[in-house]
Amino acid sequence: MATSYKDLGLVNTKALFAKAVRGGYAIPAFNFNNMEQMQAIIQACAEVQSPVILQVSSGARKYANQTLLRYLAQGAVEYAKELGKGRNVPIALHLDHGDTLELCKSCIEYGFSSVMIDGSHHAYEKNVELTRQVVEYAHKYEVTVEGELGVLAGVEDDVKAEHHTYTQPDEVQDFVKKTGVDSLAISIGTSHGAFKFKPGQKAEIRLDILAEIEKRIPGFPIVLHGASSVPPDLVVLINKYGGVLKDTAGIGEDQLRAAAKSAVCKINIDSDGRLAMTAAIRKCFVEQPGEFDPRKYLGPARDALKELYKHKCTNVLGSSGHAFD
Ligand code: G3H
Ligand code: 13P
Ligand code: ZN
Repeated sequence: MATSYKDLGLVNTKALFAKAVRGGYAIPAFNFNNMEQMQAIIQACAEVQSPVILQVSSGARKYANQTLLRYLAQGAVEYAKELGKGRNVPIALHLDHGDTLELCKSCIEYGFSSVMIDGSHHAYEKNVELTRQVVEYAHKYEVTVEGELGVLAGVEDDVKAEHHTYTQPDEVQDFVKKTGVDSLAISIGTSHGAFKFKPGQKAEIRLDILAEIEKRIPGFPIVLHGASSVPPDLVVLINKYGGVLKDTAGIGEDQLRAAAKSAVCKINIDSDGRLAMTAAIRKCFVEQPGEFDPRKYLGPARDALKELYKHKCTNVLGSSGHAFD
């Protein structure tokens, strides 16, 4: 039987984005696949009073089981109420990189309040048509839809692109008008994963293209994927405790802060969380090799993740303190 996100206590992204655009901050979209990640996200956001988007990829659905994730998200709302003593931070449940209408429909039936239809690898007209179909279905249930124009370099939806195909500012107005999407993910030099820039490469994103896009669709909610910063201290920690990560760099936090102050109102972060958990777990394994209770290493990993997310909300996205705007 279909479940409405409203019955789960979730919200769609409409009001969240409108407030974020007005307030010059971005809503964090943190990916989760298990209970500890969910706990870290909710603990962090409840503590700093930030609205939050719980983000589920197709890979997460396969890993954790879609029914369990749905109940974890429902549990997240109840947990936030408990932590907020009844005054809970707003939580949206969002499908990350949906690739078909069927997948989006299935998520909406499972209680998602927001879906992404990523048609960015298709030709423009096909992207428009697919996105329009998802919007038509989703809006019947007041579920919000994120579309994408432009292709990020790196691996995106199992498709590997060598170079960025930047979003063309000339296309955005037409795309938004024809599809009716609620937000638009763009390609301005961010990329998925922990290896975004090679050593010596200038680690910068094209804030000039963002400004051009903003001129064409003023006030329209823009989304940045691939926005992990790959903190060097986490890479050092992982390698100190036996990891073999090569030299790498992510998106500068100052650049993300600048983007969040403009039309960017949703910033996706997954890889930095993976690094924080891995560093904490590796440290435990090396420092306490006799330990075999999973709570003894998943607990510190969860705590590290929570600190990372608090930092992101407060110092990078600027969403702290905006839960009840
Ligand atoms: O955009 C990709 C997200 O980081 C999710 O990654 O597909 O490995 O779950 P995943
Ligand atoms: P990162 O790999 O940079 O964390 O990006 C995550 C993302 O865009 C999820 O959709
Ligand atoms: Zn993404």
